[in-house]
Amino acid sequence: MRSFEDLVAEADEVSVEGWDFSWLKGRATEERPGWGYARAMAIRLSRARAALDLQTGGGEVLAEAGTYPPVTVATEAWPPNLAVATGRLHPLGVTVLSHDGESALPFADGSFDLVTSRHPVSTDWAEVARVMTPGGTYFSQQVGPASMAELSEVFLGPSPDAGRSRRPEDARAAAKACGLDVIDMQTRTLRAEFHDVGAIVYILRKCVWWVPDFSTDRYLDTLRKLHQQITREGPFIAHASRFLIEARKPAPRVSVTSRHEHGSDSEAVVDPVDTTLATYQTAARRYLDTFTPLPALVTFLDRFAELVGDGTVLELGSGSGWGARYLEDRGLTVIRTDATQAFIDVMLADGHQAKLLDIRTDDLGGPYAAVLADAVLLHLNRNQFTDVITRARGAVVPGGVFAFTVKEGDGSAWTQTKLDLPRHFTYWREAPLLEILDRSGWSVASLDHIRGRTEPWLYVLARAT
Ligand SMILES: C[S@@+](CC[C@H](N)C(=O)[O-])C[C@H]1O[C@@H](n2cnc3c(N)ncnc32)[C@H](O)[C@@H]1O
Repeated sequence: MRSFEDLVAEADEVSVEGWDFSWLKGRATEERPGWGYARAMAIRLSRARAALDLQTGGGEVLAEAGTYPPVTVATEAWPPNLAVATGRLHPLGVTVLSHDGESALPFADGSFDLVTSRHPVSTDWAEVARVMTPGGTYFSQQVGPASMAELSEVFLGPSPDAGRSRRPEDARAAAKACGLDVIDMQTRTLRAEFHDVGAIVYILRKCVWWVPDFSTDRYLDTLRKLHQQITREGPFIAHASRFLIEARKPAPRVSVTSRHEHGSDSEAVVDPVDTTLATYQTAARRYLDTFTPLPALVTFLDRFAELVGDGTVLELGSGSGWGARYLEDRGLTVIRTDATQAFIDVMLADGHQAKLLDIRTDDLGGPYAAVLADAVLLHLNRNQFTDVITRARGAVVPGGVFAFTVKEGDGSAWTQTKLDLPRHFTYWREAPLLEILDRSGWSVASLDHIRGRTEPWLYVLARAT
């Protein structure tokens, strides 16, 4: 076993520049939050036009992305990191600027449609909001309250205030106060293990703010006690805390009809369905990889097929085309449609015909024996939903069948779960659904409350009256 002196001397000499922790391999571990910040950031970068990464460290996370918008800028305050980041990012076409993280950002208002930051020392929300374009996104993983408090306490004693700073709820309030809408917030506590005292010396030299006056000379006695404890009892355990926040700067909400006389078009309202469709387009592969039908859905399609008998079904929002294939195996003819080109491409590649069709604006055609919309109408707002329900009635023969599923609940919400990108959902209750169906010329054959994997669903079968 290596001596205390040896472990401390080695860790005291090694370079701690940059944000690479590979030196700790086999000597310290830290659990990862499940949201995969680097990958989620890369997806956002691939869609952005101008991106700013604040407090980039040595540029390690930004360098992982691989694809960058035409304008990508990173800032860093600490000169040794600045040099590492410049060396790493300039060859990738990313400009690195020195910025202290405290003064005003050296950019004009509305310069970036994506601002990112991993583990910023602090966030100047007013400045972040100022440099974002309307409709732009701030995406950041941050250190949460009392992170690694067990380790700091060994050196500095108990800190009752540790849990009061860096709180996610404060970040949410600050973002809101600067006019941003928080569209995602997740928190995690992550177990960290230090297997030798050298790993602790290394981390305290690198993360200088954990024990601000740290030096091996000053804390030699404490380090020796820690070494003895680890030798006697096993790894030193601490807990890191992290949160993920995504906030959007609202786009100006101007009516599309207010066209200026001098010819310049005013900016249209961004329909959440468009954002949701952009997510499906970007994350289609991920959606397909994670898709597994609920057993209740199989039973639902069986009952739908029985009600239809035989004939042609128009499927709205076919996605992977799984439902269409299932119904064809049961003898029905299915017309596959979707508003996401990536899904159309997948269905075409599978050897099926598939048509790009946006249910908000495109003619549904017909008359068909039935219309199916599984997990599709839940993306529409209530007016759009009512309109599609009415037009679906006009697209079936008398006695034709309509099957659809929506999520059960109140209001509407953005979520990033499953695809790591925003999708908008409108929730429904039984009573208003029944009322709209009745008004639109549908007679409900069954309305089932399905438990679902994470949220409850409503499965509806109806016939044209
Ligand atoms: C949750 S997925 C469900 C896909 C498929 N029906 C299934 O159950 O696997 C939602 C689908 O609705 C489609 N979609 C969303 N908005 C749409 C619109 N306005 N018009 C047509 N399809 C739309 C998406 O492209 C996506 O394929």
